[in-house]
Amino acid sequence: MTDHNHHHPAGGHEHGNHHGDGLAELLDLDAQVLGSYLDAATTWAAELAPAAATIVDLGAGSGAGTLALAHRFPEAAVVSVDKSPDMLGRTLEAARRQGLSGRVRTVEADLDASLPPIAGADLVWASSSLHELADPDHAMREVFAALRPGGVLLVIEMDGLPRFLPDHLHAGLESRLHAALARQGWNSHPDWRPGLELAGFAAVEQRAFPATGSPTPEAESRYARAFLGRIGPALAGIASAEDLYALNRLLDDDGPDSPLRSPELEVRGSRTAWAARKA
Ligand SMILES: C[S@@+](CC[C@H](N)C(=O)[O-])C[C@H]1O[C@@H](n2cnc3c(N)ncnc32)[C@H](O)[C@@H]1O
Repeated sequence: MTDHNHHHPAGGHEHGNHHGDGLAELLDLDAQVLGSYLDAATTWAAELAPAAATIVDLGAGSGAGTLALAHRFPEAAVVSVDKSPDMLGRTLEAARRQGLSGRVRTVEADLDASLPPIAGADLVWASSSLHELADPDHAMREVFAALRPGGVLLVIEMDGLPRFLPDHLHAGLESRLHAALARQGWNSHPDWRPGLELAGFAAVEQRAFPATGSPTPEAESRYARAFLGRIGPALAGIASAEDLYALNRLLDDDGPDSPLRSPELEVRGSRTAWAARKA
């Protein structure tokens, strides 16, 4: 279970608490475009923990999961935990806009140090965050200890980096770019089941959530540009000069036939979730 890294699945690579580099916007776009998993996974969470009163969202980012959970569990208090004050501020602001302020609170904490003391959690949600931690095994044990008996941990990960380009474009350009990033550990995560079982959880169940894409072509296009623009700098020196040139050409092309516009875009980004119960 040491196969982890600090690269987040939406393509970021961040240090410290600085998120002024577009990560929050990318997470918001991801929720808008590939957020169908939020509906499906919160529905599953409600089946698993129907009476959850205290829910914790670990590594909550800009709050997509927190808000989906607060809507799905209309009686519950949702605690959003992140090390980034900027992310937490965005979550609170979104909660306010959606009339959820009374039930959403934030806790700034570095989960690499320890889990903040959250008494009696019924449901813990960790989406695209567990693999970012230095010691996910330790974090899973801490979550196990923090949950009430019968409580549930739901871990969600992207199956791969989000994809936008048709496979034929530049003979598999996107696959080559992703392969280069994978060699750097981007979105690297294991099958969490063995780690969850080692941490003490029973009845680990796994589900796949296919991505259905967004009905808004404009948001898809913005997400494609934001994501591909973000991976560009990370690819310097690890992708071929030819592929980097092709990527830059794509990003520069703002014309009506750009492959970064619908209907050329083929947005894909499925997720897997593991639900684990504390007996
Ligand atoms: C890829 S984002 C996922 C956000 C959100 N859960 C989602 O699915 O959209 C990962 C989040 O985990 C947070 N994070 C990473 N390492 C952390 C740590 N050690 N302690 C607390 N938060 C952390 C980052 O600040 C970031 O907001």
